[in-house]
Amino acid sequence: MAASQTPIYAAPFDAIAADYDKVFTYSNIGQAQRLSVWRELKKAFPTGSRVLELGCGTGVDACFLAEQGLNVIACDSSKEMIRVAERRVRDSAAEKVKLRVLTAENISTLSDQGPFDGAVSNFGAPNCFEDLKQFAVDLSTLLKPKATVLLCLMGPFCMWEVVWYLSHRQLQKAFRRQRRAGVNGRLAPGAAIRMHYPGVLSLARTFAPEFRLVSWKGVGLFVPPSYVESWITRFPKFLQFAFRMDRLLDGCPGIRVLSDHILLKFQREDV
Ligand SMILES: C[S@@+](CC[C@H](N)C(=O)[O-])C[C@H]1O[C@@H](n2cnc3c(N)ncnc32)[C@H](O)[C@@H]1O
Repeated sequence: MAASQTPIYAAPFDAIAADYDKVFTYSNIGQAQRLSVWRELKKAFPTGSRVLELGCGTGVDACFLAEQGLNVIACDSSKEMIRVAERRVRDSAAEKVKLRVLTAENISTLSDQGPFDGAVSNFGAPNCFEDLKQFAVDLSTLLKPKATVLLCLMGPFCMWEVVWYLSHRQLQKAFRRQRRAGVNGRLAPGAAIRMHYPGVLSLARTFAPEFRLVSWKGVGLFVPPSYVESWITRFPKFLQFAFRMDRLLDGCPGIRVLSDHILLKFQREDV
């Protein structure tokens, strides 16, 4: 393709779908952060549950949930992400996973598939949803009373990010998560997505009264964000240390909010 031609993508994440697993899923940091989320997924849903996943990406969590004996409908707005997920589902023979190209803004179209025992959205997908209040309302209609919802978003203040970008003299990036109006996240040439970084209190308010915040923890407190991968792999002992510290302190009030991601557990209320 000529340098002046910018590809046009139907969904922003189409641009990075082919490389997503290499860059994030299989990175040391990606694996360390995902293990922390999986610990909570395992506890949240008993075998046999029917779970809805939004922004499933390449289907890693959907296959993990299927391995735990759950039935999953996993959706993503990116056709290319779903294409990679289909390959993964085929290769892992995860018959319990059904994949759909569907935006979080259109989940009401799944009303004939419910009610679900729970829902999941991992690693920043909800940061991209257009209207979290509308999402909460729509989601509540698809779930059973007392259903559990686990949402993992990029947090409002990542200690690593501030230190990393300040040390690289990139002031704007260091504090981008604090911008109330959100940020245009550039994924690749011609592919950008509007992202918001709400805090825990704001999320609890947005999801009420349909949902009650039960608990939350940090994901990636000492373990850094994935863009630090090539630097951190020079210090494998530090990464192991960071991983252990995260296990110890990810629920610690006062510091958990400094994590790369925040993982919130909600319960559907009877409203
Ligand atoms: C950072 S990736 C996370 C993927 C996956 N959850 C994981 O854990 O690896 C964010 C995903 O959210 C999807 N996404 C973004 N906005 C969305 C929307 N409005 N509705 C559904 N999916 C969306 C993207 O296509 C992308 O696959």
